Amino acid sequence: MGCKMAVRGIRVLPDPVLRQKAKKVTIIDRSVQRLIDDMIETMRAASGVGLAAPQVGTPLRIAVIEMPGSEVMVLINPEIVKRQGERLVQEGCLSIPGYQGEIKRSVWIKVKAQDRQGRNIRLKGEELLAQALEHEIDHINGVLYVDRVEGPDKLWKLVPESGQEGL
Ligand code: NI
Repeated sequence: MGCKMAVRGIRVLPDPVLRQKAKKVTIIDRSVQRLIDDMIETMRAASGVGLAAPQVGTPLRIAVIEMPGSEVMVLINPEIVKRQGERLVQEGCLSIPGYQGEIKRSVWIKVKAQDRQGRNIRLKGEELLAQALEHEIDHINGVLYVDRVEGPDKLWKLVPESGQEGL
């Protein structure tokens, strides 16, 4: 038996669900497990490296991240507890298709969260993983990378087919 995972539609700007502060997950029930499975499937179908629940229309504090060559990470109620450094990065978002911008992200961060079994976890990330963690945690707070772009010359339209890493 077992449920089939399903690809859900990705919400794009200006969908208001992307601007909501998502709610804390208090019970990890079957619907939350199914949501997580579907988020993983949706992220993979979009060739993304991360996805937050509001991006599939559910304002809950859940994110999934899958770095190239690594196992998928499921983060429930993630919070940044420490950050260090600053670097300029180029960033895109599956909810803002066709654009990319330059913003500042931390070099290194430490996050606490629960895994999908509800156990408390702590993880550290640097460079691209730190960027993905900050990006997804922004999403569950209703923040998008374009809010962090410092000027119109730091946001640009992508040439079709150029390829980008979606978060
Ligand atoms: Ni995004």
